[in-house]
Amino acid sequence: MTVHPPSLLPALFPNVVPLEPFLDGDALQQELATLPSVPVLWQVQSIDSTNRCLLEWGPRGLPQHFCLVARQQTAGRGRQGRAWVSDGEGSLTFSLWSVFDRSLQELSGLPLVVSLGMVEALHSLGMTSVGVKWPNDLWREGRKVAGVLVETTRLSSGQVGAVIGIGLNVALPPAVQDTFALPLNDLRDEEGQAPARAPVLGRLLNTLIPLLESFAQSGFAPFAETWMTHCVHRNQPVTLLHPNQTHSQGECVGLSPLGGLILRDPEGETHIHHGGELSLRFGVP
Ligand code: BTN
Repeated sequence: MTVHPPSLLPALFPNVVPLEPFLDGDALQQELATLPSVPVLWQVQSIDSTNRCLLEWGPRGLPQHFCLVARQQTAGRGRQGRAWVSDGEGSLTFSLWSVFDRSLQELSGLPLVVSLGMVEALHSLGMTSVGVKWPNDLWREGRKVAGVLVETTRLSSGQVGAVIGIGLNVALPPAVQDTFALPLNDLRDEEGQAPARAPVLGRLLNTLIPLLESFAQSGFAPFAETWMTHCVHRNQPVTLLHPNQTHSQGECVGLSPLGGLILRDPEGETHIHHGGELSLRFGVP
């Protein structure tokens, strides 16, 4: 793993406050050593948003699967223009830079591949109560435990650069939890023990990078069935809120080849939906 010296960071990222790496490098190295090509990983103490930073720097030539992990974000971004709040010690907050030879439409399944990779990584570490909620949240026991924000930019080469931002609640202090309207979950076990973050990050990257390469080759369709096996609302009645404030209701019966949500309405007709906010309640949204 190439870890750039913190002294280089201020020149490259003027708004980054560098520090000694805060995650255990040996634990990371151990996980990442099995990858055919080990990603470059930078750890920073504080940054506005790892996504914003990689969107700026990626097109200037970052290596494939460059990973920026921040202990703290001062302006973390969430989906649909929301803010993402994390905790310096209790969260994992990072972004990956990946370049694809695919159209923007074909990349619509990318966030789902990421959530699938995260669930598979966490299951392999024994955290088997985590599942996926469409399109790309991780849920545990009815509450959100992680979010994914994919942002894309077209490159001068004609390829698409994708910044894959991941925010994972590892052990959220009550004060941080209280800032959210909806109750959240984290990765602590029944005894309240949280897993160490470095091995979790290493396993996430170790699982995600091969999946991203496979997605780059074959698109989303081969992942659709496996994604559904981890889906927390599979065959459940749900409500999808559309951006124009209307909503659709139905039973969640599968995913389209591009990652669209297939709902069967009360009349038995199926419809594919892209976008919107899924509520696991059925009835009045
Ligand atoms: C969501 O709203 O569910 C997506 C949240 C994604 C948050 C992550 S944290 C690392 C990366 N940097 C950001 O500014 N956002 C993403």
